[in-house]
Order: sequence, then C-alpha cells, then structure tokens
Amino acid sequence: MIFPSLRHCTTLLITAVLWSLSIATQAATTPDSALHPRPGQHAVASAHPLATRAGIDILQQGGNAFDAAIAVAASLGVVEPYSAGIGGGGFWLLYLADRDEYRFIDAREKAPAAAHRDYYINADGKVDRDKAINGPTAAAIPGQAAAFDWLTQHYGRLPLQQTLAAAIQQAQQGFPVYEHYQRLTGWRLDTLRRYPQSARLFLNKDGEIPEVGELIRQPELAVTLQRLAEQGRAGFYQGATAAAMVKQVQQAGGDWTLADLANYSVVERQPIRTSVGHGQFELISAPPPSSGGVALSQMLTMLEQFDWQSLDTVPQTQLLAEVMRRAYLDRARYLGDPDFVPVPVKQLLDPAYNRQWAASIEPGKATPSLSLQGPKNIKEGFHTTHLSVMDAEGNMVSATLSINLPFGSGFTVPGTGILLNNEMDDFSAHPGAPNAYGLVGAEANAIAPGKRPLSSMSPSFLISRDQTAIIGTPGGSRIITMVLLGILEAMQDKPVQDWVSRPRLHHQYLPDRIQYEAAALTAAEQSELKVMGYTLKDAGRQYGNMQAIRWDHRNGEVSAAADPRGYGSAMVVEPAGNTIQK
Ligand code: DON
Repeated sequence: MIFPSLRHCTTLLITAVLWSLSIATQAATTPDSALHPRPGQHAVASAHPLATRAGIDILQQGGNAFDAAIAVAASLGVVEPYSAGIGGGGFWLLYLADRDEYRFIDAREKAPAAAHRDYYINADGKVDRDKAINGPTAAAIPGQAAAFDWLTQHYGRLPLQQTLAAAIQQAQQGFPVYEHYQRLTGWRLDTLRRYPQSARLFLNKDGEIPEVGELIRQPELAVTLQRLAEQGRAGFYQGATAAAMVKQVQQAGGDWTLADLANYSVVERQPIRTSVGHGQFELISAPPPSSGGVALSQMLTMLEQFDWQSLDTVPQTQLLAEVMRRAYLDRARYLGDPDFVPVPVKQLLDPAYNRQWAASIEPGKATPSLSLQGPKNIKEGFHTTHLSVMDAEGNMVSATLSINLPFGSGFTVPGTGILLNNEMDDFSAHPGAPNAYGLVGAEANAIAPGKRPLSSMSPSFLISRDQTAIIGTPGGSRIITMVLLGILEAMQDKPVQDWVSRPRLHHQYLPDRIQYEAAALTAAEQSELKVMGYTLKDAGRQYGNMQAIRWDHRNGEVSAAADPRGYGSAMVVEPAGNTIQK
C-alpha cells in the first residue's frame, strides 16, 4: 500500500472538510415543504404566448408541472419552429415537491453510429463547415420525443394525447408569423431554400420571408405528433415515422439507421448541486454533457472570494469577465459526455481549486486568455428555447430545449414535418477548431458514435431560505453567462423582471474579448476597461430569451417574467382560475 504524503493528506483532509461543510449547508438551504407553504399558484414562463397558454391550460385541467412542461415544449416546437422541437433534444431539470427530490433528464441528441472523430474533416484536412451545420449530415439522433414519453411515464398525471393536443391543433391550424420569426427566417434563408420541404413550410410561396400575420401550417407535423401521442416513444423511434426519417436522411446524404433511432434513450443523471453565496443559496443545475452547472458553480465560487455586490460597473465587469474566462477555459479543456470520457467534475467543483483560480485574477488588469495555457487559435463564428414551470404544489421544471442554430440543419424530413437539428456542430470537429459559437474544445468533446455533444444549456434552480428561483435561457455559448447574471440578480433579492432584463456581457475565454449589449457599458466604462487591457466587442444586438419564475417564501408571492428581448409571455394563475399576473 502506498501512503500519500502528509501534505497531500492535509489537502485531502481540508478538501473533505470543505466538501462536508458544503453538503451540510446544502441540506440547510434545501426547500422544506414543512417550513414553507406550497406556492398555491401555477406559473409558466416561455418564449411564446401560445405555448405559455398551453401550459396554463394543462395545469388547470389537473396536470402537474411536468405535464404542463410537455405541453409548453410541444407547443414551442410548433410555434417557434426555429428554436427547438421534435427533431431536437434538451435538458429537463425537475423538482418533485412530494419527495423533495431533484431529477435531471438528459434528452440531448446522440451522434449516429456512423459518426466518428473525423466525420467533418474534408480531403484537405479542414473542417467542412457546411456538412457540420447544414442538412442531415449535421443532425444527431433526436431526444425530444423520448423526453416527452419518459416524463409522462415517470412524472406526469395526464396522457400524451392530452398534453400534446394544443401543439397538434396549432400545427394543423397554423400560427401567425411574428417579427422574431421573420428575423430568424432571414438568418437561415439560404439554407431553408436549399431544402424544398422547409421552404414550403417556413417561407411564402415565392420562397421569401412571410409577412407578419401570415399563417404557418404544419399538417404533417400534426400527424407525427398524433402518432407519438397515441403510441408513445415507439410512435417516433420505430414504425412509420422512424422509417421515413431514415429513408429521407439517407437519400439526402446523411447516415442514420433504424438502429440509431431504436437505440436512443434518455438518461437520468444527478444534477450539479452546490452551495454558493457563502452557504446562503443552493444552485441546482445541469451536469455534463452540459457545461452549464459546472461552469456556473465555478464562477459563483470564484465570485464568493470577492465583495462583488459592492463594486462599481467597471471593476465588477472586470471581475465577471475574468471568472467567465477561467470557467470557459476549463469547459474547453475538460468537459464532454460523461458516458464516454472521464469528466473531472469533483475537481472542477472543489472550492479550493476555484479559490486558486480566483487568486490568479489581477485587479485592474486583463489576463490574456492564451497566457492561461489552453487550446490555441480561435476565430469568431456565432436557437433554442427555455421554459420555466411551477405548479401550485411546488413541483418545478426548468427546461432548455434546442435544435441548435435557428431552424437547426434546415432539413425537414419529407412527409413528417420533422425539422432536424444540427447539434453535431456542438462537438469539437477538430481540436482547437471553433464551432458556430466560436467555442473550442479538446479531446473530451471529440465526435464518437452514440456520444452526446457538449452543451451550454443550463436549466437551473436557485434555492435559499427566502426564495426559490427557476431560470434559464437560449443563446449558445452565452447561455451560461446569462444565467450567471440572472442568478446574481436573484442573489441580490431583486424582482424577477430584473433577472431577465439585466443588460448582458460575456467572456468565453476565446475569442479573448468581452462581448456586451449596448446598455451594459457606457463609453467611459468601455474606455476604462480598454486601459486595463480588455478587448471589447459590441454584441451588435440584444441577445438571449430568459424565462424565469420566483417564489418568495417570505410573503408567498409567485412572480414570473419573460425576457423583454423576446416574444415570450409569463403567467401566474390560481388553481381556481383567477389570473394573478399576465
Ligand atoms: O447545446 C448548446 O449549447 C447549443 N446547441 C445551444 C444553442 C442555442 O442556444 C442557440 N440559441 N440562440
């Protein structure tokens, strides 16, 4: 037997004590239904008013938060076709009030068996960006249908026929085009035009962006959803829908097989749970293959070492940029699908490790990213949705769902209405080669058959004695830092509207610069940061679409907010039907 050195033992002991302290504080901050009354109200926040309404309707029909979340997600897949849907996947963070337990459903897409490390490398040894983001070659095996089925089997009270009914109706009857829809259609116009089924569904008859108010009908998608409602997962991963997907994907150059679909399953994982804010809060968030929970915990632990709340904008921005930079470096280095690679979650969450990171931050001076020793070379590159639900009993769902870029791969499977994702681009196609979000990765996120690509989606809860927060947003690589900023607002006891509307800034290690919304920094503040050595980049437009719910344990008030940057809506209703907030 080899005895570890004394110093090592001491480190282990300190680490163990810190861990047990953190576990003890976690227990102290977990919501206790015996101490707090149940919220007594239903709340839904989502990116589209029709989806929010669908969720509220299910709650009023006797469904719980899990049934409502299915209804909201299914509806978003129809009325926000660019963001997430049955051709994609996502992460579902649950709180089961009667058992006082958290669950995390990983319904992330999986690489088909034919994919391999160099799947996107062309004859010149370069990454074929077109193959990685457009058409069926970019699509991983979808997880959304399996998530609906799993949630219904294990957590819901109502059958899929009831929870999918609103989405089916919206697909049949159509939804009116809105400005946000127009913007995202414009963004992927060329790709949509390449695939006739997509052009027919999402553009007007001249192949142009439809006018506001024009109806988008998806009758084939209604049939596909109906089959899923009647047959459960077999109605998607086997039978007519599966056969159509495999045939059409192969005809269009992709590599899916029936076995890829039949083998898909969701995975229940332990959520990341950390005590933050000097033991006053518990963060519950997404574990790998999301990078969100780990990065959020790291950043919040680093911030704990500073009196960040009392800093002025410039020093606070500097501090935020530096903790973001360090967490995103670890993301790029270490994170990937835990079913395939060992992800050092414990080490990354170790408070001592993050204190060391915090100690390397120099006040008033930027740390160049490449001086931190990580993957080299990056260049700039560049939709998804989030829903938050709480029912009157206190069950909660925070779910971020995606098909990746707006309109995913742009490829709709003919005859099914299923718009396929391009989530394969979230893998690292080549060490150091940036993906569409400019993110780099290493070995841990290399492509392998059946593997899940690393994600930034960070559906989260933040619990303290005083309040419960449900929070999340889309936004690619910027998701994690948006959720961080939202959480910091919550930690300062600000109203839920502030969490979703706070001006945003972001640093992701590489490219080495602070991206910011115009309202986040004045010209004078920008100048001061430049003097400290920061490169700044105006994000060009506002970004993100955060959906949040707050339950104040002190006065029992439930409030919800949809990001003012988006088209979403938040509602709070009494079970009897009175609307409290709209
Ligand atoms: O899983 C991820 O990190 C990305 N596929 C999310 C994409 C996204 O949020 C795009 N939103 N605007």
